Order: sequence, then C-alpha cells, then structure tokens
Amino acid sequence: MSTSAQLIDVIERRSAHNYHPLPVVIHEAEGAWVTDVEGRRFLDCLSGYSSLNFGHGNPKIVQAAQKQLQNLTLTSRAFYHDQFAAFCAGLGDLTGKDMILPMNTGAEAVETAIKVARKWGYEVKGVEPEQATIIVMEDNFHGRTTTIVSFSTDPDAHDGFGPYTPGFKIVKYGSVEAIREAIDANTVAVLLEPIQGEAGVLVPADGYLTQVRELCTAEGILMIADEIQSGLGRTGETFACDHEGVVPDMYVLGKALGGGVVPVSAIAANTEVLGVIKPGQHGSTFGGNPLACAVGNAVIEILNTGEYQERAARLGEVLHARLREMVGEGVVTVRGRGLWAGVDIDPSLATGREVSEALMERGVLAKDTHGSTIRLAPPIVISEEDLLWAVDRLADAIASFRR
Ligand SMILES: Cc1ncc(COP(=O)(O)O)c(C=O)c1O
Repeated sequence: MSTSAQLIDVIERRSAHNYHPLPVVIHEAEGAWVTDVEGRRFLDCLSGYSSLNFGHGNPKIVQAAQKQLQNLTLTSRAFYHDQFAAFCAGLGDLTGKDMILPMNTGAEAVETAIKVARKWGYEVKGVEPEQATIIVMEDNFHGRTTTIVSFSTDPDAHDGFGPYTPGFKIVKYGSVEAIREAIDANTVAVLLEPIQGEAGVLVPADGYLTQVRELCTAEGILMIADEIQSGLGRTGETFACDHEGVVPDMYVLGKALGGGVVPVSAIAANTEVLGVIKPGQHGSTFGGNPLACAVGNAVIEILNTGEYQERAARLGEVLHARLREMVGEGVVTVRGRGLWAGVDIDPSLATGREVSEALMERGVLAKDTHGSTIRLAPPIVISEEDLLWAVDRLADAIASFRR
C-alpha cells in the first residue's frame, strides 16, 4: 500500500485545490475513531461536519445499506419504490410536517427550499412575478451552488463567481429588528441557520428564534430553518429549533440524514407550502433513491429512540464544562450547544490551522474555521472518557504554543 506522503503527493497534483486538508490519509474507521494508512489511530472530532453523528460504521445503518444494496439501488422517480413511503412518512412524523421533498446534497436541499419559497410567494402570497425576496443572514453558510454563494458574505465563497443571483437581502444574524426592517411586500421567507456552524458555531441569544418565528407569522412569510448541520441530534435535541420550542415552516435537512454513508437531503413542510410543486417543476435523478431512503429510514428509527439526542445533551454538558475551564489558558471564548463547540484560540498564540495540526500530532482530528476558531463535533457515540481525553489533547496543543 502507498504511504500517506505518496498518496498526498498524487492528490495534490491531480485534484483541484478546493480544500486544504490536514495531512492525514484515512483508511478505515469505527465509532469515533479513524485509522490512517500507516495504522495510526485518531479520534474524529469533526464527524464529516456532523454527517457522522451516529458514528462511523454504525451497525444499524450499515446493515440497512447492505440489505438495500442487494435488493434495489435506483429507480429514478419515474417509478415508485418500496422504501419511499416509510421515508416520507417517517421524516414527516419526525419533523411534524405533512410532506417531504428529497434531494441528495445539502446545497440541493437549500436550493429546493428557495424554489419552493419563491413559488409559494407567487401562488399563495400573491407576490408580483419575478419580485420575490428572501431575507438571509450575514456569515451564513448554506452550500456552494452559484445561487447560494450569491448571498454569502464570505469573500472566499463569494468573490469571483458572479454574475450573482438576485432576490436576497442580507441582514445581521441575531437581530430581529434587522429582519423587521428588511421585510417588504415582496418578502417571501427568512432563511437562517438556528446555530451558524461554519461561522464558528454561533448560538444566537435566547429568544431570537422565537421572535423570528413570531415575526414571520405576523408578516405572513415563511421561516426556513437550515438544520443541515445543527439538526438530527447534534445539539441535544432532534432540531436546534427545539431548544426554543420553535417550529419553522420549512426544515432543510442533510448531512446526518445519510448516516455518513450516502448523501441524503430533504426539505419538510406542510401541504400548503410544499404542495405548490407540481410534476416537472423540480427533481433529481438520484433524489430519494432506494438506497438513500433505506439509509434515511435507519437514521429516522435511531432518532425516534431519542437516545442520541439525550447522549449529545449529557456529553455536551461535560464538554462545555471542561472547555469553559480553558478560557484564559490560551482560549478566548467557547460557544456551542450539545456535542458541538466553537473554541476561539488567542490569535496572538496561533492560528486555528496551527492548533489543528498540533492536535493531529496528538491523535485528534478537528478543523479550524475562520482564523483562530476550532470546531469540535465528535460523533455522538463517543465515550465520555475519549471526549475528555480529546479536550485534554486540545489543552496540551494550545499550551505548546505558550511554552
Ligand atoms: C448549514 C449548512 N447548510 C448547507 C450545507 C451544504 O451542504 P452540502 O455540503 O451537503 O451541499 C452545509 C454544509 O456544511 C451546512 O453546514
């Protein structure tokens, strides 16, 4: 087998440089642990950006995938298949919504939500043709398509990819007033992440989501929650909106819905919203395929037990208590909810990248975001002992820059 260095050399020469990975080549994984091609083990504290909430190789999910691989993998939506009913009914019940529209990646689900909101705006709200606007947040992250990067405020994501899609108004995240001021007769929706993941795990003040919900209801516009990263157990509830008892008009889901096995995404909404989509108006060859649905069904069954939500809540308390002790010890602030944390490193000590590399040398894989923030999101199957070990490794990695 080739060494890590040989493989990285080929990858760096033969693949586009759209990522800057840590120099580790993973060969296999189980639970919260991964093993590289040289046999070195690392604790995964990224979980495929929350796609692996239920752990690498989760037996229930892998079994469902293996069984489905042997039965049926693809029909396209030209025909029905026998996994689709359970997926739609199961995800509908989990979200409390009437209807589901499945796609593949998260960005596709966000695009779907945008299309549905616009169509709803024209057909139900009565907005003039071509005039619909959607209010979005500064520092958002919703994916990488040309429409989605059109309303990104991150220069790396946005610049150089114009001409940009019109129809979006960007306001400050966390300010209900800013949304109120941006609303006009053409507004059809507010699109937000209930916790901004890529921005550094930014948790809005208590009451913000409730007030956004109330405002959207009062103004007759849709509240769309992108729970692609925050949803499905990560924060200690099924959805991050649940922490305030808020129910958006549309959930946008992805990542962990595919159990870390295949891309599965979906939007969930009631009939008066999602019913606007008619045959021929939206679709995807692979969206809602039998393999995706079988995996999604296993994920929904897991979430219906509540076990992972409870575990993320409990371990989250342990994680945040320990991280708070590090403030002042090379850490400026810590944020987060459940098993999800953003740790701001003192920028005078090291960049997030340098800390991630030092952490990797100590057997923990995590990724920096925006300068000097480290994001921690281990698989929810992680043991308490491993979790505390990882945070100790982080403390040691940071300390190495203070010596
Ligand atoms: C909140 C949010 N929305 C959308 C996406 C895009 O998902 P995908 O990478 O599957 O297109 C992501 C990915 O990080 C995300 O975190």
